[in-house]
Amino acid sequence: MHAVDGVSLTVGRGETLGLVGESGCGKTTVGRCILRLYQPTEGRVIFDGEDLLKADSKTLRAARRQLQMVFQDPFESLNSRHTVGDIIAEPFIIHRIGSPAERARSVAALLKRVGLAADAAIRFPHEFSGGQRQRIGIARAIALNPKLVVCDEPVSALDVSIQSQILNLLLELQKDLGLSYLFIAHDLAVVKHVSDNIAVMYLGRIVEYAAAGVFYEKPLHPYTQALIAAIPDPDPEKKKASQPMLSGRNAGAGAISDIRSRPFRCLPLRRSAWWGRRRCARKRPPLRWVYLSEWCKPPADGPLQHCCCKKPDLKCAFQGL
Ligand SMILES: Nc1ncnc2c1ncn2[C@@H]1O[C@H](COP(=O)(O)OP(=O)(O)O)[C@@H](O)[C@H]1O
Ligand SMILES: [Mg+2]
Repeated sequence: MHAVDGVSLTVGRGETLGLVGESGCGKTTVGRCILRLYQPTEGRVIFDGEDLLKADSKTLRAARRQLQMVFQDPFESLNSRHTVGDIIAEPFIIHRIGSPAERARSVAALLKRVGLAADAAIRFPHEFSGGQRQRIGIARAIALNPKLVVCDEPVSALDVSIQSQILNLLLELQKDLGLSYLFIAHDLAVVKHVSDNIAVMYLGRIVEYAAAGVFYEKPLHPYTQALIAAIPDPDPEKKKASQPMLSGRNAGAGAISDIRSRPFRCLPLRRSAWWGRRRCARKRPPLRWVYLSEWCKPPADGPLQHCCCKKPDLKCAFQGL
């Protein structure tokens, strides 16, 4: 069983790529493979022209300064025995940067940058709320001036009222520091605010990949359509159009929520009533690129098969039809 299979993504400099999909579809695995916290069995992770999966320990160590992660759970991801100052100073110590006095100054500047008081440095993580802890995690992630930050569901564990504060902080930091984000979420409403491009994962595979604007206007894949339909609308008067659902009672034959029951060669949604039963019953269909503008071109040597149909008036998305 492959937790992640045939995933191909690009994050541009200073851009945010939103990676969405339900729990267990492989988002964290993708993020960890990029940082080589997991060693993938196959594939490439090209960062600044260097394949990280083939890199020796010295190159990898240098690259790790540029690649950081903000973790999903702000309670688990901070060592409760260390002071906040020690936690934020850890990247400097690991990479042997600065004297203790310089590190303390950097920690104070980072705390200020993420909106925490200077005395936070001598306190312990359990003294802080979830949102404040996530700020500590973000301070640690930006300590070494990284280029790419993998934000693994950074707001999923937080109250809705706090989520927007953390999202705004991430956006501010991106603007000031020129960061690129791989922003992982299971919720399209969150991704909408931060992403330039969006990729949708389902059972370990990408099923749709598009620029954010076109993504919400013209979702192509039934799974994406269901995700968008699930975004709550704050207007109580507005009636929701009936949309296909992928889980719960309405799932019918369409939903396969367990990765282990994914058909071997076919897209997971093949049995769906509104997907068409016969379309891909025999073999896994290639991802089809639909040109909706000159926004992107299919990679010449990508791991996925593409058959292209050029429609220059439209923007780009691809779809596993
Ligand atoms: N260390 C592991 N060992 C075995 N299976 C794992 C491990 N980590 C994750 N998985 C499995 O891989 C799949 C993808 O998990 P994950 O990447 O954590 O999903 P997501 O982040 O989208 O919720 C899941 O089916 C999960 O059970
Ligand atoms: Mg995850």
